[in-house]
Amino acid sequence: MKNTQRQVIIAGNWKMHKTTRQATALVEEIQSAADGEKNLPEIVLIPPFTALVAVEKCLRKSAIKLGAQNMDWHDEGAFTGEISPLMLTDLNVQYVLVGHSERRQYFGETNTTTPLRIKAALTHGIKPILCVGEMIDEREAGLTDAVVSRQVGAALGELNSEQFFHVSIAYEPVWAIGTGNHCAAAEANRVCGMIRKTVAALLARLEDSTGNGEPFNANRLPILYGGSVKGSNIAEYVKQEHIDGALVGGASLISEEFLAIIQAAQERVKRAAKATPSNTPTAHR
Ligand code: 13P
Repeated sequence: MKNTQRQVIIAGNWKMHKTTRQATALVEEIQSAADGEKNLPEIVLIPPFTALVAVEKCLRKSAIKLGAQNMDWHDEGAFTGEISPLMLTDLNVQYVLVGHSERRQYFGETNTTTPLRIKAALTHGIKPILCVGEMIDEREAGLTDAVVSRQVGAALGELNSEQFFHVSIAYEPVWAIGTGNHCAAAEANRVCGMIRKTVAALLARLEDSTGNGEPFNANRLPILYGGSVKGSNIAEYVKQEHIDGALVGGASLISEEFLAIIQAAQERVKRAAKATPSNTPTAHR
């Protein structure tokens, strides 16, 4: 993949839904429809911790990836109720959400703890999806860009260029999550473009630290939109310049909805393939 070509990602965050049996049934439906399809985006299923083992078993022969909803940054220790990166890699978890707004609102996640999780994930070869987004009162006070760029800078400001190859960001305005009140695609695109500029500025501060490799280019960073994404509105998002997919909550629990979202993302994958010569050398992922 070229240093400016971006991966298209559709991730389903199941939140606190699905028993093991229900999880297995949902994965089987998604898998049987998706496997063998062409131009698929990177599909990531993010079940609750208790269903990771069952979902991992279903996905062993599939291109679909497994993600976790959160992760502690210690390898092990006296941290009752927490799950470590070692426990996730043990289950072949490849992605982890970091800084989801529900973690920030209800479970004490802050701009101080997100970088700890991001670094621990990268150290263990897990790809973090950093979640950022403003609350409604912040938007109304004109603080959206300030809040979001601060969240991005805090979480990613200490990474080196090589580490950025394994990071994605999801812009999820808090007021759009689970409300049906999705953010207009043009505005979501504007904020995602601002996020890309913020990352470019972080990278510009780094002296090259990739060793022999090409330094990471912010144009390559996958940026997803999340917040009331459904089969009926996804097409608008994946048409936008800076939106490379979606982080889906409620609609990822219903196989027909999630498959419709994947189908719309295939159009973006097709467009990207047309825009890039097929003999472009592949890089880190
Ligand atoms: P909804 O798609 O249910 O709005 O949830 C979005 C979300 O929080 C995904 O992480």
